[in-house]
Amino acid sequence: MTNATFFSQQRPQFPALSREFSGHPAVFFDGPAGTQVPQRVIDAVSNYFATMNANHEGLFPTSLETDAMLDEAHRACAAFVGSDDPETIVFGANMTSLTFALSRSLAREWQPQDEVIVTRLDHDANVSPWVMAAADVGAKVHFVDLHKTDCTLDLEDFRAKLSPRTKLVAVGCASNSVGTINPVHNLCRWSREVGALTFLDAVHFAPHRLIDVAQFGCDFLACSAYKFFGPHIGILWGRRELLDRLTAYKVRPASDALPDKWMSGTQNHECLAGVIAAIDYLADVGRALVPGQTDRRPALAAAFEAIETYEQSLLQPLIEGIQSLEGFTIWGITDPAQFAQRAPTISITHRDLPAATIAERLGARGIFVWHGNYYALELSEALEQEPEGMVRIGLIHYNTREEVDRLIQELRNITE
Ligand SMILES: Cc1ncc(COP(=O)(O)O)c(C=O)c1O
Repeated sequence: MTNATFFSQQRPQFPALSREFSGHPAVFFDGPAGTQVPQRVIDAVSNYFATMNANHEGLFPTSLETDAMLDEAHRACAAFVGSDDPETIVFGANMTSLTFALSRSLAREWQPQDEVIVTRLDHDANVSPWVMAAADVGAKVHFVDLHKTDCTLDLEDFRAKLSPRTKLVAVGCASNSVGTINPVHNLCRWSREVGALTFLDAVHFAPHRLIDVAQFGCDFLACSAYKFFGPHIGILWGRRELLDRLTAYKVRPASDALPDKWMSGTQNHECLAGVIAAIDYLADVGRALVPGQTDRRPALAAAFEAIETYEQSLLQPLIEGIQSLEGFTIWGITDPAQFAQRAPTISITHRDLPAATIAERLGARGIFVWHGNYYALELSEALEQEPEGMVRIGLIHYNTREEVDRLIQELRNITE
């Protein structure tokens, strides 16, 4: 069975994919802003409410069941990010809130002569928390530039800005705007050599590639389940010794032990039940492709290998199709030989039509794309695309070749 056949057979698991709008089957190219969810995620959320809705750490059955479910959520997410320590997984409202909270804890240890590095490729959730935390203590912030020709990070600029004064390097695993995948293993290694901590934003990377905190060599990594087929919830992983040592902003009765120390207030239990289901959906993709793979981690690895191959098989006709049209610019890597360095997310602009017009016209034809800067503000400014921004087309493994062809045809209709 081909990858295309296999992934098209998974589509019925996602109820939203069968929706129609104004007589058109819906095409969801808005995955970078949030993916659709399989039925099992919907069932898990609703089953939590129906059967075990309770606060945790009580001495009665629904609370004990909730505790067991929460432990499983930590285990599932540890497998998802490549850690063998479930207590180093922290949940919160979303990646942005978790990052602001952590930045406050880290900045307590910074001095005015210290420095922080962020990049012009990142989503602002991995920029503003660090800029504001640095401002609070008078530390200096460096912005790493990018190569505008292919929207890759300027690694020479990165190394030039790195110094023994650098306390923290905040960088994305993949750009939510132009798809660039950063060489995070090297970035973390270089940072470690000067004694800097590293914070990775894996929000955009998570639905496309296997996260591996051990291989990346980072100190912290954050992602969001609603970008990888789960509910709206943020996930943070941190090195145990750092999570243990750093001061968390927490209420006094809350435990000082991991992971509770970092999880302020009552968690979103129903969504955490859905996170387990989302990760198990992905693991089952791997299990179906490589029979005999029972453990979550190798199953996830098998799933992401197939997802990468399939997504790239859609990316090539998408890029070639847009290149065949008049008046479009594709921002970022377009050379298939470099596809390993990009996620299947592209941003385009048109010579005459504003991004919002294209998105609106596609939307009216049942094709959902995003427009604007998608909070990757520095990038949009660097490419001189503010204030209109670009049109973002994000492929996910539930998309099909037919959908890509329909998009190209509609773009042709809109612009000719
Ligand atoms: C790359 C990236 N980082 C961070 C975020 C923020 O995530 P959240 O909505 O969970 O705060 C997003 C959301 O679009 C994103 O795409």
